[in-house]
Amino acid sequence: MMKKIHVHPETGKFMFCLFFIFWSCCHVCFSELSPDQKNTMIELSRFLNIPDWNRPGSEMNPCSWNGVLCSRPDNGSVISLSVSGFDLSNSSFLPVVCNLHTLESLDVSNNSLSLIPDGFVTNCERLVGFKHLNLSSNNFSSSPSFRGFSKLAVLDISYNVLSGIIRDYGFEGLVQLRSLNLSFNSLTGSVPINLTKSLEKLEVSDNHLSGTIPEGIGHYQELRLIDLSDNHLIGSIPSSLGNLSKLESLILSNNNLSGTIPESLSRIQTLRRFAANRNKFTGVIPSGITKNLANLDLSFNYLNGSIPGDLLSQLKLVSVDLSSNQLVGWIPQSISSSLVRLRLGSNKLTGSVPSAAFESLQNLTYLEMDNNRLTGHIPSAFGNLVSLNLLNLAMNGFSGIIPPSFGNLTRLQVLQLQQNKLTGEIPDTITLLINLLILNISWNSLSGSIPPSLLQLKKLSNMNLQGNHLTGTIPENIGDLENVIELQLGQNRLSGRIPVMPPKLQISLNLSYNMFEGPIPTSLFQLINLEVLDLSNNKLSGEIPPSGSLISLTQLILSNNQLSGDMPRFTRNVLVNISGNPGIKSINEDEVSIKRSQSGKSKLVMVVIFVVLGVLALVAGITTLIVLKLSRRFKGVNNMQVDPAEEGSTVLPEVIHGKLLTSNPIHRSNINFTKAVEAVAHPENALHQTMFWSYYRVGMPSGSSYFIKRLNTRDRLFQLASSEQLEQELEMLGKLHHTNVMVPLAYVLYSEGCLLIYDFPHMRTLYDVLHNHTSDVVDWTSRYSIAVGIAQGISYLHGSKSSGREPILLPDLSSKKIMLKSLTEPLVGDIELFKVIDPSKSNSSLSAVAGTIGYIPPEYAYTMRVTMAGNVYSFGVILLELLTGRQAVSEGRELAKWVQSHSSQQEQCNNILDLRVSKTSSVATRQMLRALSVALACINISPGARPKMKTVLKMLTRL
Ligand SMILES: *[C@@H]1O[C@H](CO)[C@@H](O)[C@H](O)[C@H]1NC(C)=O
Ligand SMILES: *[C@@H]1O[C@H](CO)[C@@H](O)[C@H](O)[C@H]1NC(C)=O
Ligand SMILES: *[C@@H]1O[C@H](CO)[C@@H](O)[C@H](O)[C@H]1NC(C)=O
Ligand SMILES: *[C@@H]1O[C@H](CO)[C@@H](O)[C@H](O)[C@H]1NC(C)=O
Repeated sequence: MMKKIHVHPETGKFMFCLFFIFWSCCHVCFSELSPDQKNTMIELSRFLNIPDWNRPGSEMNPCSWNGVLCSRPDNGSVISLSVSGFDLSNSSFLPVVCNLHTLESLDVSNNSLSLIPDGFVTNCERLVGFKHLNLSSNNFSSSPSFRGFSKLAVLDISYNVLSGIIRDYGFEGLVQLRSLNLSFNSLTGSVPINLTKSLEKLEVSDNHLSGTIPEGIGHYQELRLIDLSDNHLIGSIPSSLGNLSKLESLILSNNNLSGTIPESLSRIQTLRRFAANRNKFTGVIPSGITKNLANLDLSFNYLNGSIPGDLLSQLKLVSVDLSSNQLVGWIPQSISSSLVRLRLGSNKLTGSVPSAAFESLQNLTYLEMDNNRLTGHIPSAFGNLVSLNLLNLAMNGFSGIIPPSFGNLTRLQVLQLQQNKLTGEIPDTITLLINLLILNISWNSLSGSIPPSLLQLKKLSNMNLQGNHLTGTIPENIGDLENVIELQLGQNRLSGRIPVMPPKLQISLNLSYNMFEGPIPTSLFQLINLEVLDLSNNKLSGEIPPSGSLISLTQLILSNNQLSGDMPRFTRNVLVNISGNPGIKSINEDEVSIKRSQSGKSKLVMVVIFVVLGVLALVAGITTLIVLKLSRRFKGVNNMQVDPAEEGSTVLPEVIHGKLLTSNPIHRSNINFTKAVEAVAHPENALHQTMFWSYYRVGMPSGSSYFIKRLNTRDRLFQLASSEQLEQELEMLGKLHHTNVMVPLAYVLYSEGCLLIYDFPHMRTLYDVLHNHTSDVVDWTSRYSIAVGIAQGISYLHGSKSSGREPILLPDLSSKKIMLKSLTEPLVGDIELFKVIDPSKSNSSLSAVAGTIGYIPPEYAYTMRVTMAGNVYSFGVILLELLTGRQAVSEGRELAKWVQSHSSQQEQCNNILDLRVSKTSSVATRQMLRALSVALACINISPGARPKMKTVLKMLTRL
């Protein structure tokens, strides 16, 4: 017998409620990570010590942690993990990550990881959905084979220090791969062709790949991007490349490729960008090559023949760079109105400019034809190029006048017409070029006077009218040109008195070989930023004003005038030429900052000083050479990354070649090269200056600030060919990672030199913190932490065998080169100097021995070479500064010598220490005394007896 089950309506409601509550509960319970994933995440949080992951209570929901992405909508499993930019150096967490069996994407970029544990690959191979792996910008020098990652679609290991043969990394096992980025490593071997055929992007730029580009590359039918730039590839471009029917960008820049440019590339209808600059290509440029292209860069090759008639006329063309080849013949008659940049400089082009072709190029922004054999008049039609920012027609045979129609070019920022045969007067319409920054019309045959209207060009920074037939006086109000930093008026027929000059003059003021008379105005000697002043070969008379305010001066040329009286004193860095002035009484010897002392060591000191002075002069010369090499080179080189956003802006890439070294996306979006160059154009923005660098703090449009160093240009007499080395060195330095090393985030090369951009805009130097009497006394704990930090930074730079790179030495290590992020965190700065002033790393005596007196080890006087032991000496002096609170040189005495002579007896040692610090505790005193013995070991007279930096670090940490 069955009993009917009767459910009372109220009970039904009740059960429904129960069910609802249960369901809601379940919703909560099931919307969390499974216990094992949660445990894994908590384990990871302990390993990683990321603040956000360790907030109290946050262990409840790892899905809410920064960088963690869970499956939607239930949050039931972790699918993506990003721990980018946390300064992680211990990679033992990596195998643990792979316990998250649902993981699809892992990003550990931008850390200091150096090892990929075996367990990582074996554990992660099992993850069925693992598709994205980003290991970029770390210190990985090798890795286990990637063969097992069969599901991986995107692999990025760029910006590491991977070495060895590319084949050994097992990339061919990655059968689902779509994008492989190995750029900026040190991989060897040949271009990989055994990868999966589904590959869409292959980026291996900046490695040491050798051999030819294999024919087999034509089998990657899906490829859209190939970047093989900056390797050592040889041979020709394989014709099979023409079969890649989806290819959009082909970048082969800066290899040793040769042969001709294959016509087959014109078959690829998708191809928009082709860069083959800086190779050894020969032959003629095939016609039709630009049929589908927007960007073509063939600069710096050996191409000959004439420019095909259709090359510039294609309708999609945006930028064409053919500069620095051996092209002959005429400029084509038909030029596409879509063109934004056209560079034809440094070829052998002849004939006159086809005027009609330039009548309607409304978008043309950069036009360079310099250093060819062009003749005839400059066409008046150039006045129609209303978008023009830069016009460079220098070093040709142009004759006739500067067309008055140039006044229409109101966007023009750079006008370079130097070294032609132009005649007539400077047209008055030049006044209308209100955006002009650089005006160079030197070495022509221009006559008449300097038009006073020129003074309305308020933005002008460089004015060069040198080597013409200009007469009359300098306009009285020239001092109103308040942005001018370079003024070249030499070799004209100018006369009268020298008026008040622009206040911000910096690079050079050259009035030589004219007919100026009267006294040197005192105001001229108050130009605090001026580096070179040349007044030679005039008729100046009277006494030389006091030199006190010319604090940046490096060269003063007053020869062949009628000056009289005493020669003022200058510091030792100034080269003074006063010959041919019979009225000048005596010339004082260069002043030397260390007085003769009574001790027998004084002779050695003097030897060191004079040797160093000589070398400083040499170094200044070398620096100049490099800067000029660069400026020359970048006049003609196209920026390889053609950034569409940049095309329309007012950036002047001839003047600016910027490169981001950091892969940190925040810095990459913040850093604005134009802004950097603009900011340093104003010398009043400089925080301070040294022999080689000026330092700035620059606010970017995004609101964040950066610390910028400008390599000072010195003299501009040298002109040399190319220097790729410096760029390579800077890129290598950009890959360094250490909390105590100041690594550039980006660099900018422009015609005035080189800028390096850094994080931490508000740093002070250790020198300022220690020796500026308005600062508070720094306690021992901070000083100790600073000492250890510096030692860590230097040991890292010196490297080890396993670091796989050459040691980075510091030619000028002093407390002014140590920047402080905080009172405990030092950064070793100026690491570029060694590379910058000695790019060939030659061992010759020209190697950069440019130190700061007080920090220079005694042996440099004889060896003239920077060494690791020499760096240890300089570190020893910095440690002494920290211990004694004294400057490296005071009252004419070197600190190191003073300490050596006072430390022979124990009781004297106590008195050497900075009493303001040591008296605070006996523990501090004991530690300081032990640190003093470390410092004494570092400043040992014999380089061989000094400990290695690694040992110094150990000695310090054991205190
Ligand atoms: C999943 O986690 C995220 C992040 O903490 C949170 O915003 C979201 O509400 C969660 N979703 C569920 C269904 O719990
Ligand atoms: C590519 O694979 C083939 C067959 O497996 C092999 O013979 C060849 O050596 C490989 N080439 C490279 C460059 O690894
Ligand atoms: C010139 O540039 C503008 C803005 O980028 C564009 O719209 C126009 O099509 C360009 N003109 C030609 C002829 O390509
Ligand atoms: C350019 O300038 C000339 C003379 O200065 C003038 O006649 C001409 O109309 C101007 N052309 C344009 C396009 O503005």
